[in-house]
Amino acid sequence: MPGRVLVTGGASGIGAETCRVLAGDGWDVVAADLTSAANVTLLDVTDEAAWDRVFNDVGQLAGLVNCAGIRTRGSIVETKLDDFERHLRVNVVGTWLGIRGFLRRHRPNAIGGIVNVSSVNAEIAVPDQAHYVASKGAVSALTRAAAVEAAPLGVRVNAVAPGPVRTPMTAERLGDPEQAAWLDARVPMGRVAEPAEVAEVISFLLSEKASYVTGEVLFTDGGWRGHA
Ligand code: NAI
Repeated sequence: MPGRVLVTGGASGIGAETCRVLAGDGWDVVAADLTSAANVTLLDVTDEAAWDRVFNDVGQLAGLVNCAGIRTRGSIVETKLDDFERHLRVNVVGTWLGIRGFLRRHRPNAIGGIVNVSSVNAEIAVPDQAHYVASKGAVSALTRAAAVEAAPLGVRVNAVAPGPVRTPMTAERLGDPEQAAWLDARVPMGRVAEPAEVAEVISFLLSEKASYVTGEVLFTDGGWRGHA
């Protein structure tokens, strides 16, 4: 089915790698991000009007990957309301606006696919990230709800739930030997993932190989969820 696919968060980390993998799998990839970079369309996923502009510019889409996301660390008692709300806006509202825009523009009888990026921590709680954990829990729940509504339209909606991945988001944490050891100890495979290992799963979920898979949150976490 490859056609045109929009990847948010496409300037960095998992999103950038997803663009590379999808292009290799024959998709016509449009990367979008808050951060400008070569061949990246500017998009703040929290901005409804900006989504409209991008959807109008890119034309008919066969796929959407909602990968843009943020994560800060801090205990509940330290976290400011603004930081909590910002996580909900970027990680949840941003994903919801993408899903809504995609479904509104989806042509009858066409086949489409959406992949959201949740996290193993949507299910396995960790300290000092309650705002992030809550936002990713919402992304997983939103994925299941959207799949039910999208199925009659011919659109599958799934999510990937990565464990720790080596990207700019985790660079500081993985650079701290104590934190890196803590993470390695939680993952039965004993290592963090490379972005390509997540991008390949996203590509699978978008592809016709996953033609009967929808509403699924596919853990790509080196076994962390089963082990916790
Ligand atoms: P990253 O920081 O390398 O990339 C995130 C991208 O999202 C950046 O390019 C950033 O500019 C963009 N972004 C942030 N706010 C935006 C907004 N309002 N509008 C548009 N773009 C925006 O991080 P990484 O690791 O590649 O993360 C990608 C996704 O994977 C995120 O949703 C993250 O929560 C999720 N994830 C990452 C894990 C990890 O260990 N790296 C583990 C589990 C999930």
